[in-house]
Amino acid sequence: MKSLKILIVDDDKLVSWSLSRDLEKEGVDASVVTSGRQAIKSIQETSPDIVLLDLKLPDIDGLEVLKKIRDSLPQTIVIMMTAYATVETAVQAVKLGATDFIKKPFSFEELKVILNRALKSHRLSQEVAELRQNLKQKYGFSNIIGESKCMQEVFALIRKIAQSDATTVLITGESGTGKDLVAKAIHYESQRSQYPFMALNCGSLPDTLLESELFGYEKGAFTDAKTTKKGLLELANNGTIFLDEIGDASLNFQVKLLRFLEDRTFKRIGGTRDIEVNVRVVAATNKNLEELVKEGKFREDLYYRLKVIPVVLPPLRERPEDIKALVHHFIDQFNKEFKKHVRGISREALAILESYHWPGNVRELRNVLERVMILENTDIIQPEHLPLEITLQDNLQPNEPVVRLEGTVALKDIEKSIIEQALKRTKGNQSRAAQLLRISRHALRYKMKKYRLLN
Ligand SMILES: Nc1ncnc2c1ncn2[C@@H]1O[C@H](COP(=O)(O)OP(=O)(O)OP(=O)(O)O)[C@@H](O)[C@H]1O
Ligand SMILES: [Mg+2]
Repeated sequence: MKSLKILIVDDDKLVSWSLSRDLEKEGVDASVVTSGRQAIKSIQETSPDIVLLDLKLPDIDGLEVLKKIRDSLPQTIVIMMTAYATVETAVQAVKLGATDFIKKPFSFEELKVILNRALKSHRLSQEVAELRQNLKQKYGFSNIIGESKCMQEVFALIRKIAQSDATTVLITGESGTGKDLVAKAIHYESQRSQYPFMALNCGSLPDTLLESELFGYEKGAFTDAKTTKKGLLELANNGTIFLDEIGDASLNFQVKLLRFLEDRTFKRIGGTRDIEVNVRVVAATNKNLEELVKEGKFREDLYYRLKVIPVVLPPLRERPEDIKALVHHFIDQFNKEFKKHVRGISREALAILESYHWPGNVRELRNVLERVMILENTDIIQPEHLPLEITLQDNLQPNEPVVRLEGTVALKDIEKSIIEQALKRTKGNQSRAAQLLRISRHALRYKMKKYRLLN
């Protein structure tokens, strides 16, 4: 208990002085006040770690003082002392935020037990708060990078979702566009963040296992069910369940899921009792669910139930504006991870990344940078550091001809068509198209004039 600051608030001078002497012997910095008013003043001035507060004071009621402490210094441990301990006052004190209470008269040993218990739980709750803060930093919105207009729209939408009590969200987007990231951010930025985030990958387990993971089972439900086990839905109560790869769920599992989504209750496998939970269901898929519905592989009713609030993550090739910020984000990240000192990327290298079509989206970009930063010892990332399949674009094999000659064809038509494709891929950005074709912007303009590609 050394180096703790404790304030004793009691008008019974005998009690308070003997207490403070005992505490000082333990190395505690103890001080005494004898009225509610003095207590409030002293607490504001000295911010003690612990307040030992008598319930009955000559001026202000102890419970009032407690309320004031809670408003101004919520972290303080408050232990109520009372000679008139009734269950009601104790309950009321705890409701108002007292950490514990002790009945007078008490021995110093008894008080020490209570103080140690309070300190322990206080430290634990501080640790939990810290961990929670770390989680939020790790998984919050600030980790999702995107400056393009379409990503800004996504941010606005997921902010609204996080703050709302929308209970069903469907995230779609190609592989590597950030669906996991968004699902976690929705959870960790919401009121639900004190409760668990549980994830289930619907594509990776056989049906029976999926069901027992999600709904849990009763003892004896099947041969291996030696004890009752809660499922993820119960464990995630008040929090979020993330159903990843929902497009891969079997029709049979889809039925069970739909039943749960309809009335938010379920039974454990082998159980008879309906269990009600409050969980937000965030589902994600890189499949086209509408197509799957047409093919009869995904239930239409489940699709509509999930799609109440759709979040669509655009592929990276549709937002090359985001690449610069993403590259810097990953450079920072890998500098820390690999203890490197890469300062940035050259304009030419960035232009190449910006014009690549990124079939693996942000994940692929991240992997490219990881590889470069592990393999190359460089200050600034240059085109020659980038993997060949990216500099050559479209995964051309090194010996494969860029254009294949079939029949007869006019060379000028090939040139014109290639220029058109470059402009299309760069959305008309002539500088980028020129970089892509490895010619100067001036030369590009000249050729565009020649082929009447200028408006
Ligand atoms: N906007 C972004 N900002 C920062 N990092 C991102 C962003 N989008 C994706 N990433 C990173 O890219 C990688 C892939 O993202 P994630 O796992 O969320 O993709 P996904 O859409 O769930 O893919 P899959 O369909 O394959 O499951 C992760 O390392 C993630 O941190
Ligand atoms: Mg994913």
